[in-house]
Amino acid sequence: MKHIFQKGTNSDKPTLLLLHGTGGTEQDLLPLAEMIDKEANILSVRGNVLENGMPRFFKRLAEGVFDEEDLIFRTKELNEFLGEAAEKYGFARNNIIAIGYSNGANIAASLMFHFQDALRGASLHHPMVPRRGMTLPDLASKKVFISAGTNDPICPAQESEDLKSLLENAGADVTLHWEDKGHQLTVSEVRASTDWYHNL
Ligand code: MLT
Repeated sequence: MKHIFQKGTNSDKPTLLLLHGTGGTEQDLLPLAEMIDKEANILSVRGNVLENGMPRFFKRLAEGVFDEEDLIFRTKELNEFLGEAAEKYGFARNNIIAIGYSNGANIAASLMFHFQDALRGASLHHPMVPRRGMTLPDLASKKVFISAGTNDPICPAQESEDLKSLLENAGADVTLHWEDKGHQLTVSEVRASTDWYHNL
């Protein structure tokens, strides 16, 4: 997968896996990683799917309606890529924290839904429930931060509540942070996720 890897200065730190929103690239969230942890490795990946020229991490049938078959295929593809990248760049496979926005948050949530050891934790900005009606792996010891907007037209508030419950029922420790805003990524939610990250 097309990506950027930047080696951190402190090998005890996690690797931050950056996953952009629809129409974004691997460049988009680099400033966010800089705000969250200047010393960590960064692995920033570009989604392999194109929707009218816009990169995404999996196909959708309509706004908010996901192509489940493609979601499952792309989730596996990304999980395998993480293993290959860990070997190639020499970082700990079991110490990856995903930071995803919108479509990138959805694939990060999907990694946790499908693979017990894909991620150590995830900061999910404006995610939806990636897939319903499935049994999640045991996610005890996993940490998740979710930020959501009370007026988000793309992710209704109930989606965020449902995602929190599904992850908690699988054993994850979930923090849900609300912004009185829409779908945009705000500085104040990044500050809240930075606090969450430094208390991992
Ligand atoms: C998705 O398709 O993953 C969500 O609707 C969010 C987005 O527009 O990327």
